[in-house]
Order: sequence, then C-alpha cells, then structure tokens
Amino acid sequence: AAAPAAPASHRPALPVGHRGASAYAPENTLAAVDKARQLGIEWVENDVQRTKDGELIVMHDTTLSRTTDVEQRFPDRAPWKIADFTAKEIKSLDAGSWFGKEFEGERVPTLDEYLSRLNRNRQELLLELKSPDLYPGIERQTLDTLSRKGWLNRHHTKNKLIIQSFDAKAVEKVHQDRPDVKTGFLGTPKVSELKSYAKFADQINPAYGDVSKEYVDAAHDVRGPHHRRLEVFTWTVNDAETAKKVAGAGVDGIISNKPDVVRDAVKGA
Ligand code: G3P
Ligand code: CA
Repeated sequence: AAAPAAPASHRPALPVGHRGASAYAPENTLAAVDKARQLGIEWVENDVQRTKDGELIVMHDTTLSRTTDVEQRFPDRAPWKIADFTAKEIKSLDAGSWFGKEFEGERVPTLDEYLSRLNRNRQELLLELKSPDLYPGIERQTLDTLSRKGWLNRHHTKNKLIIQSFDAKAVEKVHQDRPDVKTGFLGTPKVSELKSYAKFADQINPAYGDVSKEYVDAAHDVRGPHHRRLEVFTWTVNDAETAKKVAGAGVDGIISNKPDVVRDAVKGA
C-alpha cells in the first residue's frame, strides 16, 4: 500500500544561519550575512547587545576580546566589556582578522546597519537578546529600532522576524509590548511547564542534545500566544547526520554555522 501522505503542515526544517553563515565568515558581521545569502540561506540568527553610549550592536560575547583586536588597540581597558566602550570605539575595531586575513577591516555592525543589509538582501532575522539583564530597557529599545527600520509592519511580523532569548522575562516583555511579534524561549523547559511558556513564546528552542521526538511532539501539542502550535528551533547543528536526526524528531528549524549543509541534509525529509 502507498505510504500515507504527509500532513499538510509538514515542511522540511528551516535552516537558519547561526550568527550568519559563521563557519565561513566572521560571526555576527555583514560578511556573515552576505555569505548566508550567497548560499541561498534566507534566515539568519544574531545576538544584540548595547554599548556604553546606548547604541545597539551585534555581537555574541559580552566582551570584545574574542572577535575583535580590542586587546591590542586598548591594552589598558580590561576586561573589555561591550558596555564599557562607546559605539565609536567599537566601530574602530577590526572584527574580521581573527577569522581570516581576507576579512581584515570587517566592522562590528550596529543593529541598524544589520537590518539595512537584511533589507537589501531580502533576508529574515531570528534576533537574540543576549544577556538582557546587563542592559535595562533593551527589549523596548530593540523594538523601537526594528520599528524605525520598518521591521514591525504586518508583513515583517508575520514572515520575517522572531525575537528570542535565554531570559524568559525579556521574552515576556517583548510579547507584552508587541504581541504581534513572534517570540522564542531558548532552553528546554519541562514538558509540564510548556503551557506557561506558551503564554508569551511562540517557540521553544532547545540545544540539539535535548531534542527527542517525544519532546517536539509535546511542544507541538501546546498552543502558543497566537493560537498556533509551539514551534521548535534547535541549535547549533553543524553536520548532516545530526541535522537528519533532529529533522526526524520533527523540529521546525535548525540553527547552524553551516546552514547550507543542514539545508541539503534535510531536503525532502
Ligand atoms: O540561536 C541559538 C543559539 O545562538 C544560542 O546560543 O550561545 O550561540 O547564542 P549562543
Ligand atoms: Ca545566539
């Protein structure tokens, strides 16, 4: 007998470029966004934090050391926290050389610049509020920037934007402020807790080691704030075998430094 047809909602898991296509270009830079675009990857993930003078920038670590030349440029400013540097100082840093000589001179993007590039490239954004406890009010400020850049119109909120965080309070604040924006909680709440997260989060986004079919099914059985089933995006999957495994468990999205590898692995799955 013929295999039963896949349910109408079944789609291959969405590949998302983690910090851009960060296996191939320096993470969280415009080069990493462009690389994702060149590979045909539409969704990218980034991390948003705030400078000393209140500018939103895109960077993962809370210090500038690993992904810029800050220690050479400002040797007496340890521990080189983002929050201790102005946007102008951060803009003067090289955020590419650590990754490869061909990326020398790449800059740390502001959120504003990052959104402009996504607009130009016609890409979508999974935006992470990173360590929001360090930056009071960053939820509202991020929404204000998104709004100014045209990212809170209906087309964008429906199709092009998700805001996530490990900090449940920050996710809840975003949801309360702009209930039309899709949100995600990073982590693996117990199945019995999923309903309470679903009051403010459309997605539950666990590390791939926590993913099982049972867990994904349990999330899919819960309705989120927009009355749709909770989605599950998992991270950070960088090989075909793991991608197939989590796709088999039914995840909706796979966040990867090699989103092209993930896309090819789950094609037709
Ligand atoms: O998008 C999920 C993933 O980025 C969370 O971990 O440390 O890479 O921000 P991290
Ligand atoms: Ca992240």
